[in-house]
Amino acid sequence: MVRRMTSAGQTRMTDPDDRASIDRFRAGVIRETTLFARKELGVEESTGHDWWHVDRVRMVALNIAECEGADPYIVELAALLHDIEDYKFSGSDEAGPRAAAEWLISLGVEDEVTKEVAGIIRWMSFRGAKVEEVPLSLEGECVQDADRLDAIGAIGIARVFAYGGHVKRPIHNPDMAPDLHTSAESYVTSKGTSINHFHEKLLLLKERMKTPTGRRYADSRHERLVEFLRDFDAEWTGAK
Ligand SMILES: [Fe+2]
Repeated sequence: MVRRMTSAGQTRMTDPDDRASIDRFRAGVIRETTLFARKELGVEESTGHDWWHVDRVRMVALNIAECEGADPYIVELAALLHDIEDYKFSGSDEAGPRAAAEWLISLGVEDEVTKEVAGIIRWMSFRGAKVEEVPLSLEGECVQDADRLDAIGAIGIARVFAYGGHVKRPIHNPDMAPDLHTSAESYVTSKGTSINHFHEKLLLLKERMKTPTGRRYADSRHERLVEFLRDFDAEWTGAK
């Protein structure tokens, strides 16, 4: 159960037909949700799913939303709340969307907004190379693309080894082949190596970007992965 906000008065919608009142209410919801996400995720978390990850996802998702004409309010709320009670850590598909919905309800956010945000969080995660994905709204696509962009490029490389260490993955074992998982369960419980994770997920993400803006972002980040693997392999084999 999420805590109720202590400053509910600051975000109460005084007149649902008045644009200025709606804007004030929404600004308060974003402000409170930012504080909530930062407190829940923390800045000392060491798996790469910390507050700064969420902050980057929020910024990139809003940039994508602007280019794609998506609703920035839905996008920002889903980005801020998307990793709270994440299924990889909680072991539950429902805990994350439930926590997000409870938080938004506690702020008095409209039902349709709460439902949309919780739905995005429920279905946006990557759950294995061969696991079919559920189609998302445009707003969901912006958040999913931004989350996936943070898994590739220079930051993605840093995060894959941070998370790999957390779940005790070896860095590399040339005797182990990548596994293109066919179920979410085998993906989450995989004991494969961090280098294999590039082949099992990271290198696949460029082709799975949903928005044109996300695809543009992904191009250079994908190239960074390819270059890194080329250098890693050359050093591993003593070629340079
Ligand atoms: Fe994330």
